[in-house]
Amino acid sequence: MDATNQAQTMRYERLALWAQAEWQQRYGDSAYKLLWTSESCGNQLAQTRIKPRRRLKGSVYYTGVEQIPCSEVISISEYVMPGRKVVLGETVGAFRFSFSHPSGAFDVLYASSYYRDDDPNIISIALVPPNRLDAWVNFESLCNEAVRRPTRRQDVYIVGGTNAYFKPTVDWDEVILPHAIKDDLRSDMEAFFKDGVKIYQELNLAPFRKLLLVGPPGTGKTMLCSAMAKLALQRKRVVVYVSGADDDGASFHKIHHALNVVATAGYPVLLIVEEIDVYLRKDDKARILNVLDGLESPNNERGALLLATTNYPEVIDERIAKRPGRMDRIISIPPIQDEALAFEMLHHYMGPQWHDEHAAVVPFLVGQTGAFVREIALHARMLAAHNRQRTVDLDTLQQSVNSLSTQMNSGEDLMPRRLIGFEAGSNGSGPVEYPDDVPAPAHPPVGDEGD
Ligand SMILES: Nc1ncnc2c1ncn2[C@@H]1O[C@H](COP(=O)(O)OP(=O)(O)OP(=O)(O)O)[C@@H](O)[C@H]1O
Ligand SMILES: [Mg+2]
Repeated sequence: MDATNQAQTMRYERLALWAQAEWQQRYGDSAYKLLWTSESCGNQLAQTRIKPRRRLKGSVYYTGVEQIPCSEVISISEYVMPGRKVVLGETVGAFRFSFSHPSGAFDVLYASSYYRDDDPNIISIALVPPNRLDAWVNFESLCNEAVRRPTRRQDVYIVGGTNAYFKPTVDWDEVILPHAIKDDLRSDMEAFFKDGVKIYQELNLAPFRKLLLVGPPGTGKTMLCSAMAKLALQRKRVVVYVSGADDDGASFHKIHHALNVVATAGYPVLLIVEEIDVYLRKDDKARILNVLDGLESPNNERGALLLATTNYPEVIDERIAKRPGRMDRIISIPPIQDEALAFEMLHHYMGPQWHDEHAAVVPFLVGQTGAFVREIALHARMLAAHNRQRTVDLDTLQQSVNSLSTQMNSGEDLMPRRLIGFEAGSNGSGPVEYPDDVPAPAHPPVGDEGD
């Protein structure tokens, strides 16, 4: 164990030594008992709510509190934001609590600290005169009551980025994908939380299940995550979302923080990590593999489900697909595979502007993504509005399909294709594949057919 590690694990002893020396300096040889005590006494919420002159058991009165300097603790207050309100979550620091009694005043020295720099649990100790233990226990329970957690719990945690990155507001029906895929995903989540958690525990495994959504950009992976989150919230689960999209980028630090939240949530948790491949490319990859292997998995006894996404199965391929157990299921989210789905997607994004003649472009949408269809529909609707057409005619829609296809084809020339494909899916269902990479039009552009 190196010196830093040792220093970190010894924080309790260091606090105790500090408190004993402080006691000696203030009160000489008068007796004390060293106790593990409640972290609530250090909480500023308790300290503002419990007023001096509060009467305690045995004719003892509480007379006040003073923060004292302590070389072993930096005073820290952590706030949580369960909605619009900011609430003080916890405080650590060193304090002197004063009490009076007909036979004389007395003090309690108190110090609390995070257990270690990387462990957010709090340890708290108190030095109490031996004949005043009852009064202190009484005071401790007043503090516990005073800081009892606000009843509103936090439901969605966004780790990295702001709430704008992720909104769990997508309805399940808005996601247009083959029913088999959606049903699979949904029933996996429900089966896990309903029965799976117990089964994992029977096997002495942390109930942590891992699903990976794989597919090219724009097929609806983020949308699915958002819809799964909405379902989870309806069932009173907590959602933790890790974004790699802020200034800090994709550091393992975020995953680490998220795992702490998962482990201590006290509720079943849906943990969403988008673009997980980014974490696997960096130096931290060994640590994330440890999480997936179970060595550093969070142990939340109510169950935690990881929903991860990636565009790059070839990064995942090496480290995950070939090593069963790192991901329990790999689910392919493909581009639009048939005309029925293409029709549904187009109909959805044309909205009130839909006309039956639009169905003519449907064959050209097979092989494309939801993002593509949304864009051509929006573009056509804007073009029509700009040209003061009250309806979107087929020509306008075709024009829109053509121009986006052309743009994407030239884009492909600029960006050479990546090879995509799995050796084997770890779910035993054989290779996981989706049709050829970033969608190229499966047909010549509309209008070239000479009809
Ligand atoms: N299957 C789908 N059903 C309905 N709309 C879709 C679908 N796929 C994509 N879209 C539309 O395209 C937008 C982009 O999709 P989304 O962000 O979910 O793609 P993604 O798979 O996460 O892409 P990336 O891999 O680039 O992150 C969605 O907000 C939605 O409007
Ligand atoms: Mg996405």
